[in-house]
Amino acid sequence: MSRYDTDFSKMNFNTRAIKCGDAPDPITHALNTPIYETSTYGYETAEEYDQKLAEGAEWAPGVYIYSRTTNPTADALAEKVKALEHSEDAFICSCGMAAISNALLSNLNAGDHVICSDDTFMCTASMFADILPAKGIETSRVEILDLENIKAALRPNTKVIYLEVLSNPRLKLANLPEIAKLAHEHGCKFIVDNTFLSPYVLRPLDFGADMVVHSGTKYYVGHGDALCGVVAGRKEDVDRVRYYSDNLGCHISSFDAWLALRGVKTLGLRVARQSANALALAKWFEARPEVDYVTYPGLESHPQHELANKMFLHGCYGGMLCVHLKGGYEEMAKFADATTIPPVATSLGDVVTLMFPKSAYGNLIRFSVGCEDVEDLIADFEKAFEKMKG
Ligand SMILES: Cc1ncc(COP(=O)(O)O)c(C=O)c1O
Repeated sequence: MSRYDTDFSKMNFNTRAIKCGDAPDPITHALNTPIYETSTYGYETAEEYDQKLAEGAEWAPGVYIYSRTTNPTADALAEKVKALEHSEDAFICSCGMAAISNALLSNLNAGDHVICSDDTFMCTASMFADILPAKGIETSRVEILDLENIKAALRPNTKVIYLEVLSNPRLKLANLPEIAKLAHEHGCKFIVDNTFLSPYVLRPLDFGADMVVHSGTKYYVGHGDALCGVVAGRKEDVDRVRYYSDNLGCHISSFDAWLALRGVKTLGLRVARQSANALALAKWFEARPEVDYVTYPGLESHPQHELANKMFLHGCYGGMLCVHLKGGYEEMAKFADATTIPPVATSLGDVVTLMFPKSAYGNLIRFSVGCEDVEDLIADFEKAFEKMKG
């Protein structure tokens, strides 16, 4: 047996992130997976091509006909995702919204009903407010911290319960085992967006979710230089997502897949550092007189801190942190304008700290804490508070 046939998928997180899915090219021995920048794939004979088409129609692994359908660079990334999410199968697509919309559409038809949590990313909210209802799919948005709300919303035609396990932007933490139980008692699929935590902090499939989706653009890529979507779960469910994505045209570019493939190797290192920085900042903000409240699952003041301790891995609580200053819009904007390290920007999960002042959410400041030296971030924020006084 070759050293390259070793099963790395049972090893620890960082080893899995680095070793799974990558092996030297059999001809050139190039150690890194190439960017397969090709739209189509050439075969020798009609018979061989027919055979490949038949295998491709069954979503057999390692079959390449056309890059809208499958591409080897994206497949190498999917192998890593499988190992990191503890899933039977995984699929990579163009962005988080492609992952979410294909996961939903492949499980819902006209006449079905879906329950979604009340706090989600804006475009996910549009799916439930406009896009799904316009196609004849009934939707309910409920506050999911109280399970009674979910029970009350269940209907005979409910097919899916969907939520962000740590929600955007309010950082509410869902009780995955309880909600999974409820979903399965009712014969529903439980689909979870885990963008805000990454598989280094939480693996929803281990707590009963049927499918996990990510904006891979965020922690998987980690450097803010590519768009990527991730879906993981059972093979039959992931194959249906493949079918939808192929027909709707949601493939990832091979270059973006390659950037994600490179980025994911340091996912554990980055998230460990981002989590340590975020915890230090959360405690620092909480002790400041200018601060009204801080939301961070690593703080004892977070309402689901105990649940976080039960579900989270590696002693980490993630890099997402929300701060509300005393006062209103003016205080939020003055503070944001006085800082120098974090850009005012949307997105999250990057090595650089990003700051999103959210006037639409009661002047909440959402930080995606990066990998800088936390002393420098604290000094920057301290100076910003001083400048506000002047
Ligand atoms: C929780 C969550 N899910 C999904 C998305 C959408 O991801 P993408 O921008 O990669 O389509 C985002 C984007 O910010 C997000 O925050």
